[in-house]
Amino acid sequence: MNSIIQTADGSHSIHSENFNASYHSSHGSIQETKTVFIDAGLNYLIEKGLESINILEIGFGTGLNAFMTYLEVKNRQIDLEYDSFELYPIGVETAQKLNYPQLLNAVADKDIFYSFHNNANSYVSTALSENHQFNFRLFISDFECQNFGASYDIIYFDAFAPNIQPHLWQELFLQKMYDALKEDGVLVTYCAQGAFKRALKAVGFKVEALPGPIGKREMTRALKQITF
Ligand SMILES: C[S@@+](CC[C@H](N)C(=O)[O-])C[C@H]1O[C@@H](n2cnc3c(N)ncnc32)[C@H](O)[C@@H]1O
Repeated sequence: MNSIIQTADGSHSIHSENFNASYHSSHGSIQETKTVFIDAGLNYLIEKGLESINILEIGFGTGLNAFMTYLEVKNRQIDLEYDSFELYPIGVETAQKLNYPQLLNAVADKDIFYSFHNNANSYVSTALSENHQFNFRLFISDFECQNFGASYDIIYFDAFAPNIQPHLWQELFLQKMYDALKEDGVLVTYCAQGAFKRALKAVGFKVEALPGPIGKREMTRALKQITF
């Protein structure tokens, strides 16, 4: 059973009884997504001049990261491909109860948000500007069983925390994440745990500790830089 909860910035999140965990920080879902994924990941690469960006999301959940990514690049001259994996989809009826379109002043775009949740393995393609597209795919599938191929610029690493899904924060799975990134790609996540950062370094990432969202001193950005 999932229940909708409210976080400190007023935005909703979901509490999963299965995992006994919430999908976002209790200090605020929207502020967490903005700091960790939008600013440290997406905007970091846009500022570097990328005009075509492929994102992999580990854990689609409420779809907030995908929706805020869409709103951030709307009207921009870039192409964005967004692949997200989720084994336990919340479904469109629950998505319709979430207050993200209202709080993000994006009621006009609410149907895009709902369409992300619409079908199993949904594919949504929408124009950002005259020649640029936002292509979204949701794979209802176990992200642990995928072989991704080195095709992504950014990984939004948004699994449940190390105390809940410990193996995802260790070398074996992080090697898969490293392999899924293109050269100069980045993985961003809310977690700043020492053992996690050591595991990232062990698989070859260059690790940066950045100021975290409200309620967390630090977050992590890991870069795939191939040096010879
Ligand atoms: C922290 S939440 C993700 C929050 C999400 N990014 C958002 O914007 O709401 C983690 C998500 O990973 C999903 N998940 C956990 N284990 C999984 C697995 N092995 N394969 C696919 N999804 C999984 C959970 O169902 C949950 O939705």
